[in-house]
Amino acid sequence: MEFIKVNPQLEKHIALIELNRPKELNALNRQLMLEIRDTLRKLDEDDNVRVVILTGGQKVFAAGADIKQMADATAIDMLNIDQFSTWDQIKKTRKPIIAAVSGFALGGGCELAMTCDMIIASETARFGQPEIKIGTMPGAGGTQRLTRAVGKAMAMELVLTGKFISAQEALDAGLINRIVPVELLLDETLKLAREIAKQSPVAIKLAKEAVNNAFNSTLDEGLVFERKNFYLTFASQDQKEGMAAFVEKRNPDFKGK
Ligand code: CAA
Repeated sequence: MEFIKVNPQLEKHIALIELNRPKELNALNRQLMLEIRDTLRKLDEDDNVRVVILTGGQKVFAAGADIKQMADATAIDMLNIDQFSTWDQIKKTRKPIIAAVSGFALGGGCELAMTCDMIIASETARFGQPEIKIGTMPGAGGTQRLTRAVGKAMAMELVLTGKFISAQEALDAGLINRIVPVELLLDETLKLAREIAKQSPVAIKLAKEAVNNAFNSTLDEGLVFERKNFYLTFASQDQKEGMAAFVEKRNPDFKGK
């Protein structure tokens, strides 16, 4: 991998992907996005991995898609490159992905964080969709995921002015899970990852799918979907183990089966 660093076992059941283009503020060129896609595919198939952390490190998460790479592209170039198939693949990852964000998460960087399931931010995090300032607009979900996360008023302001918001504003708006000191970003993200990694991987997958389905369905459709996934957990050994452990007053040992 040229533009990311991968540790499939940062610790038991937890994998780490770190963006690694520091001089370009982790700008997301096509190769980097393909590397993330291919890595997530592998980690999703790896039974030893239950949670993935995606970070840019302590200085910057990502300053957006690589402007230099796309500056001269025509609409047909963009269509033919079909870069968003990469993003669609990231969205399909069934295991939970936690974004650990410090510094700028702008444009495609903000969209990448929002494509993850949860966001832990350091106090230096800045979020924004500044594409409008370079004569374009968000193309990787910014107008959709941001609006669902923070509501129309703030999303419209961010998308139409390109202004950045602080970690505190992002927290108040419901975009992120919490703010932590920058030097504790990975430790605090790991704490959350560990909480998830000790649950049943089967139930985690089905629950993640059901929560995401809430954005694509009516309430009634979503409730039916949820119920089916709930029933499905009763086909797992993990459900039997989880409930037996509760009755026997011991910790469950989930196997993901
Ligand atoms: N693409 C390519 N290169 C980038 C970049 C980007 N998105 N963001 C930063 N860089 C490069 C800079 O060109 C610079 O490189 P050089 O040293 O070779 O000149 C280097 O990273 C450091 O950047 P700055 O000197 O600009 O750093 P700064 O601290 O002064 O400013 C910043 C930081 C405010 C993030 C500024 O770099 C900036 O505004 N970046 C662009 C942000 C942006 O518009 N993102 C949206 C991109 S479009 C998109 O993402 C589309 C989509 O929806 C998929």
